[in-house]
Amino acid sequence: MPAIIVIGAQWGDEGKGRVVDGLGQQADLVARYNGGDNAGHTVVAEGHKLQLHLVPSGILHRQATCLIGAGVVVNPMQLLAELDQLAELGIDVGPERVKLSAAAHLILPTHRALDGAREAARGAAAIGTTRRGIGPVYADKAARTGLRASLMADPEAFAERVAEATRDHNRLLQEIYHQEPLAAQDVAAKYCDYAKRLRPYLVDGSALVAACLAAGRTMLCEGAQGTLLDLNHGSYPFVTSSAPIAGGALVGLGFGPRAVSQVVGVGKAYTTRVGGGPMLTELLDATGERIREVGGEYGTTTGRPRRCGWLDLPILRYAAQVNGLTGLALTKLDVLTGVDPLRIAVAYGREGKRTERFPAEFGADELAHWQPVYEELPGWAEDIRGARRMEDLPAAAQDYVARVQEAVGVPIILIGVGPEREQAIWSR
Ligand code: IMP
Repeated sequence: MPAIIVIGAQWGDEGKGRVVDGLGQQADLVARYNGGDNAGHTVVAEGHKLQLHLVPSGILHRQATCLIGAGVVVNPMQLLAELDQLAELGIDVGPERVKLSAAAHLILPTHRALDGAREAARGAAAIGTTRRGIGPVYADKAARTGLRASLMADPEAFAERVAEATRDHNRLLQEIYHQEPLAAQDVAAKYCDYAKRLRPYLVDGSALVAACLAAGRTMLCEGAQGTLLDLNHGSYPFVTSSAPIAGGALVGLGFGPRAVSQVVGVGKAYTTRVGGGPMLTELLDATGERIREVGGEYGTTTGRPRRCGWLDLPILRYAAQVNGLTGLALTKLDVLTGVDPLRIAVAYGREGKRTERFPAEFGADELAHWQPVYEELPGWAEDIRGARRMEDLPAAAQDYVARVQEAVGVPIILIGVGPEREQAIWSR
């Protein structure tokens, strides 16, 4: 009855999709537990490249049921667009395969408008959100004024609630942010149509998970974003509004910790971040630029260039601590080919003080005053994309991986050496 949780160990975009893809081959249920269409990953299906933001990547494994859990926030228009795209490729996305928790909250167009308006009002202190309405919809959920997916069971009554919520949000948009209101009746009519289409997908997500685990089947919990974007444990306030950490899987899907057999953290061989907030190992030079270009470090959802920098071990140790990692997947090692020497931040320092631990007790302002303490390692020039076993890697690459494993104290179960499914070294 194992549940395997896959989480991001940095600031998101670590390549969780490929790890879920690899581990998901054996999964009977693949479940998303947090976030919304702020996330995004590119998948290749039937020779086509598509971008999924909501539907779990397990949809490509024919046997897996896919659940969008209670902890997820759903833009129904986006969900339907993804289902349509997948259906066009001949992939079964009927209600037998795709399930939507009735307790998931729904994103309205006014949530997106409010997200944009709040970001604009923050000026230089902007978080750099994806403007998908994530903060405002979770705020409504916490304030107990949100709209749950269960309301879609009665589309006409649901439409009334959508119109009412839109009018409430309009008051904020107009009076506080001096923005144009949205046409409540038009929005309500659209949402009534979405409800008619999505109604068959509604389930009690926790009951579905319980049945899967009780039958001895395997559930893969797919985290979105990463540890440092966690609302409670991330680099607040430069975080998202959900719980990307392992604990978020239990909360967002509704099952207990005894079922968890593995927690796999996914981290890149370097560090990236999108949006504002301190990033101590950021490279604002040609090396950072090179990593961005070679690694294709541009946002899947917004297309924004990602901030790139050296690997940060205090962050990975922190991820191991917060999530209770049993394994680490180190992705995109091939991107570092030709960068020589390489640097890894082993600690942070400030005025003679030093910490090897990520100082999560610091606010963003204090953290920004610390400097990374680097260790230098030799790079390698050989093309490593063909490596399938540890021994196939040049000695310098093996040393790099060994150094990370030793410093984080968690076994490395996968090394990514290229974008294709088979370009990976798995050690089980
Ligand atoms: P929000 O989730 O759109 O509210 O954005 C809050 C912060 O999380 C911003 O810094 C975003 O760039 C970041 N963020 C949200 N989703 C992702 C993601 O999937 N990958 C990387 N960063 C993300």
